[in-house]
Amino acid sequence: MAAPRPASPQDGLFWITGASSGIGRELALEAARRGWRVVATARRADELEALAKACPIPHAIIPAPCDVTDEAGMAALVARIEAEHGPISRAFLNAGLYLPVKIEPFETSKFHKSFAVNLGGVANALGAVLPGMLAREAGQVAVNASVAGYSGLPSSAAYGATKAGLINMVESLKFDGDRRGILFQLVNPGFVETPATAKNPFPMPFLMKVEDAALRIADGMDRGAFEITFPRRFALILKFLRILPYPLYYALSKRAMGA
Ligand SMILES: NC(=O)c1ccc[n+]([C@@H]2O[C@H](COP(=O)([O-])OP(=O)(O)OC[C@H]3O[C@@H](n4cnc5c(N)ncnc54)[C@H](OP(=O)(O)O)[C@@H]3O)[C@@H](O)[C@H]2O)c1
Repeated sequence: MAAPRPASPQDGLFWITGASSGIGRELALEAARRGWRVVATARRADELEALAKACPIPHAIIPAPCDVTDEAGMAALVARIEAEHGPISRAFLNAGLYLPVKIEPFETSKFHKSFAVNLGGVANALGAVLPGMLAREAGQVAVNASVAGYSGLPSSAAYGATKAGLINMVESLKFDGDRRGILFQLVNPGFVETPATAKNPFPMPFLMKVEDAALRIADGMDRGAFEITFPRRFALILKFLRILPYPLYYALSKRAMGA
């Protein structure tokens, strides 16, 4: 079997979850500019219709609304899309939410919701799209985790746990993917200006424009390296912090974040 390689628009469709706003929306527009037919999934059908209309390339974006926590709905959606429009050769599994949590009150529901969308949603998407890719012995799947998954951060016990889980999930899947022709990639962005971060009350170092983030992801997916992370300097600082002994990690991060 040939080594997995990045998919191209000639191979099939590009499926993006969480395409109704922020990073997913911007990547859908960028992918259309690069010649892809994009299947755009999120819950808000009206926003997906608006995205398809806003795209300057006619019929390049196919609205495909679904809640990623609906396992059967996701499988049915992929089956319908592939029957009507052809195979999905590239996927960006990006739907997610950030719910800050405190130790008191300890809101269990925020943990369960984060796990269901951020982790369960990716599992449901993989369950829907992988059988076809495996049958074709080709495919490309990038999962949007976060640098917040590198190590524990303040207010991030629910979100960070899901993102650390996604990093481990994709690291693990790569073993099988490499043998079966599926290119798995991990996307770990720093702070990006989107509706999700607009409500953050704290300073966001190296905050990036969503258009720049979409370009980095599109370029990274075209190149095919395992990890796509940006801004580089921020990711390097966090990668360095996570290899420190814990006392040093906490001393430095508490000082930097005033936590
Ligand atoms: N912005 C950042 O700084 C940053 C940094 C690192 C990683 N990320 C990750 O990037 C991803 C996108 O975030 P963003 O900043 O672009 O946020 P955003 O603008 O809030 O976008 C989130 C997207 O996820 C979709 N979504 C949420 N729950 C869903 C569900 N149950 N089913 C289907 N779709 C669902 C939303 O659509 P509907 O509401 O229409 O369903 C929306 O399209 C997330 O996974 C986030 O963790 C963001």
